[in-house]
Amino acid sequence: MNAEGRARLNRTPEWLALGKHREELGQTHLRQLFEEDPDRGTAYTLRVGDLHIDYSKHLVTDETLTLLRELAAATGVAELREAMFRGEKINTTEGRAVLHTALRAPAGTVVEVDGEDVVPGVHAVLDKMASFSERVRSGEWTGFTGQPLTNIVNIGIGGSDLGPAMACEALRPFTDRGLTVRFVSNVDGADLHEAVRDLDPERTLFIVASKTFTTIETITNAESARAWLLDGLGGDEAAVARHFVALSTNAEKVTGFGIDPANMFEFWDWVGGRYSFDSAIGLSLMIAIGPDRFRELLSGFRLMDEHFRTAPPEENAPLLLGLLGIWYGAFHDAQSHAVLPYSHYLSRFTAYLQQLDMESNGKSVDREGRPVDWQTGPVVWGTPGTNGQHAYYQLIHQGTKVIPADFIGFARPVAELPPRLAAQHDLLMANFFAQTQALAFGKTADEVRAEGVAEELVPHKTFRGNHPTTTVLATELTPSVIGQLIALYEHKVFVQGAVWNIDSFDQWGVELGKVLAKRVEPALAEGADVPGLDASTRNLVAVYRSLRGR
Ligand code: F6P
Repeated sequence: MNAEGRARLNRTPEWLALGKHREELGQTHLRQLFEEDPDRGTAYTLRVGDLHIDYSKHLVTDETLTLLRELAAATGVAELREAMFRGEKINTTEGRAVLHTALRAPAGTVVEVDGEDVVPGVHAVLDKMASFSERVRSGEWTGFTGQPLTNIVNIGIGGSDLGPAMACEALRPFTDRGLTVRFVSNVDGADLHEAVRDLDPERTLFIVASKTFTTIETITNAESARAWLLDGLGGDEAAVARHFVALSTNAEKVTGFGIDPANMFEFWDWVGGRYSFDSAIGLSLMIAIGPDRFRELLSGFRLMDEHFRTAPPEENAPLLLGLLGIWYGAFHDAQSHAVLPYSHYLSRFTAYLQQLDMESNGKSVDREGRPVDWQTGPVVWGTPGTNGQHAYYQLIHQGTKVIPADFIGFARPVAELPPRLAAQHDLLMANFFAQTQALAFGKTADEVRAEGVAEELVPHKTFRGNHPTTTVLATELTPSVIGQLIALYEHKVFVQGAVWNIDSFDQWGVELGKVLAKRVEPALAEGADVPGLDASTRNLVAVYRSLRGR
């Protein structure tokens, strides 16, 4: 597919066959598909590790799935997957390998980048993180005044924030409840203010997380955090070494900031920011849950990596989910994808996936730089159920849009819930099952009439149904399950990027805004003239300055 001269994606026989098949399926309803195949509810399921994945409520038949797998084969998904695992530089626009899978490779595996095995380095950093985490957790690592560090504040943004922030919340029951763990990402000073206003600097550890160590938000917040710390501890710069550590690929910048390189936890340019949460970027999480639980998380990632690499296409969950997304984007005109976890602890899960998916596949040129004329990554959105049911589900049920949705739920409530609250779990899950049922099968006009509804209200109370969903069910939310889920989505995103023939591992689109922000900032503070500023922005800057009394 990548080679010049081969047909572009939407002119391949496999794509055209899918288009024809879509026409044939027309408005075929899930009600019909389930009637025709009574085994569909068990046949269209996969078991991967702890995850039971039900894809029976998708607008697909055996033929659809075969055609989608043929598309994957024709577009070289398996070959690109092997190239990724082998450490080839598949991030072509940045000339980098894409090796987040090496972050969870067992010791002894050999994965080479430029002829060097990277796995020993991965384990050396993990061991260093484990030793540091244990020292903090036990109180052996003390602050400048000899106090144990019980407040952990991670300063980072994007991939240096969302993963550990999401997982600290998801795994809250596994965390040391004696620790206060907070995340500061926004350059809005209110974020840092709220994070530290009730903390004792003597007991506070700042983890400055930045792959590049040049991200303006993170460096600005880190400098402000250092000022806050020094204010609170009497101003002796020596305090910084006890209260600041860095997670980065950039030792020079870390040292320049004033953090002792001994307190730096390294990762590498072959780890993309949004794929970095199981690298040193996970230090705050490791301190919160402890090294053993962190290793369980890694084992969950690894389980899904092995599945993705070895399972046959018919049983390969990331492949399947990736292809389903392509089916809806290309042949059902779906613009978005909802991820709806039925777990309060997964409140940050979809936000994490937004970066993973949208920063990876929000692209409009192919690997050869040619505009694509097929849909790429969807808008990913969603919040935990049941809250969304009382807010935006109406649009999914009765609106005009096709919105494929993933429902993620657990058979058991977390162990520490008192019996009365644990008993609420069945009600939560009853909603979980009811929603996918209602979305798939709806309610016909005849069913509405049979309830004696007045004729003029029948159209309003009719549910078309036929809304596609995936259900992912696990026994309970554990570190390993988080690893399995994240790797499932990582590889799903990979599959889609491979079929669409885009580079899922760069993010040039976010650069322009950064450059422009740097240009505009002096205009805000000093009223400096910004050459080339458009008329709208120039006026907005003038209004802003006047509203600020400048
Ligand atoms: O602006 C986008 C981005 O580069 C993300 O890809 C990345 O996760 C985030 O910024 C933070 O970058 P860094 O870890 O280098 O501070």
